[in-house]
Amino acid sequence: MLIGPIMIAVGVGMAIPTALDISKTVVDFVKAKKTSKTPVKLSVTEQYTRFFENLGLMDSKKGDWIKCLGLEEQDFYTKVPFILSDSLSITDFQKQCENIRQKLKVVNLEIYEEKGQMVFRSRIPEMPNIPYEYVKTNKHLVPLGINLEQDPILWDMKLDPHLMLIGTSNSGKSTMQNTIINHLIRNIPKTKLYLIDLKKGLEFGIYKNVQSVVSYADSLQDAKKVIADFEAEADARYEELAKTGYRNFYKYVSDKPNTSMKHAFLIIDEFADLMSLNGGKDDYDAIEALVELSRKCRAVGMHLILASQRAVADSIPPNLKANVSAVLGMKTVSEHNSRLIIEENGLEKLKIGECIGILGSEKKFFKGFLIEDEVIEATVKEFSKDKQEEKANVVEIFK
Ligand SMILES: Nc1ncnc2c1ncn2[C@@H]1O[C@H](COP(=O)(O)OP(=O)(O)OP(=O)(O)O)[C@@H](O)[C@H]1O
Ligand SMILES: [Mg+2]
Repeated sequence: MLIGPIMIAVGVGMAIPTALDISKTVVDFVKAKKTSKTPVKLSVTEQYTRFFENLGLMDSKKGDWIKCLGLEEQDFYTKVPFILSDSLSITDFQKQCENIRQKLKVVNLEIYEEKGQMVFRSRIPEMPNIPYEYVKTNKHLVPLGINLEQDPILWDMKLDPHLMLIGTSNSGKSTMQNTIINHLIRNIPKTKLYLIDLKKGLEFGIYKNVQSVVSYADSLQDAKKVIADFEAEADARYEELAKTGYRNFYKYVSDKPNTSMKHAFLIIDEFADLMSLNGGKDDYDAIEALVELSRKCRAVGMHLILASQRAVADSIPPNLKANVSAVLGMKTVSEHNSRLIIEENGLEKLKIGECIGILGSEKKFFKGFLIEDEVIEATVKEFSKDKQEEKANVVEIFK
């Protein structure tokens, strides 16, 4: 049985314990509970075993037992693998997370299965900032941040063609979108970016003159045009694939490495604001337009990257959520909002830039990269098109 990570966290105002402090708390806790039967010298692993036994979960009549098998202390977490007797329900054990967390004075706690073994992992309350630096990747991969093991977390467009970022104000959504944009500009020469920034261009305005940016809007009216341009590009790609006998973007580009058909992206900050476009003479429905695009574009190497502050059910319509498989949940204001986004609590306790992502159908905790203004400015400078140059034709003939 695979049991997903359970994230439990407390609020701010607590001194930050290190992995070492956490072990010390276990030792102190066990000392306080010590009975005459307690052996004088226990290893830290034994201390953990004793700690779990003292939680009051063991029913000696049923022959319950638990054994901790080791202790792994890393920069960002402490991990204790353990085994339980068959008589002990892991669900009951998981229900004790909050109790364990309070006793150990740790901020975040997960109990989950790893390689057939249960592990108990407490992570440090706040990950340090991770500065963004460009690292070349395969074209369909975008690094988003790093996890507790300090491994990069990647968005894989082959697994999840589209990406949605949801979190409250100041949770780090635009920063994450900026790191993605910088990566795409550098990593995919001739990528096509369609940018919509309804905060009057505050976030994406700086990219207006970058070569890869083929369509840009910072107002609702222009947004409609950007969406239409993106759709026209998708239609042109379908036509080209049909003409050349291909059904799939990846096959097409692998057979024609010099083609100008590269991954393309529609990147929208605050996409829920597009709903104010709804109605009018043409009976426009902005979200329906995005749902349509999400269905249509995946086969032709075109991707949506949508961010929104609003987690309320009506701003992430189920049909859009169903078509956008990768979801990056950032800090929310409530447990309720967390459940709307990742179907469990946990986002409400995240810190700025931290994220629980559903990527490749797996839930992953990580900290997003922090990109400095100077890094963005350097990208813009390096990749700007000449201002006099005519804007690239959105619908072009593929070579
Ligand atoms: N990954 C990160 N690591 C450290 N700090 C971050 C990170 N992401 C964001 N921040 C900090 O938080 C601030 C707010 O981030 P950002 O503008 O991306 O939030 P947002 O979710 O887009 O907010 P809003 O919804 O109001 O637009 C940034 O200016 C930066 O100082
Ligand atoms: Mg923002």
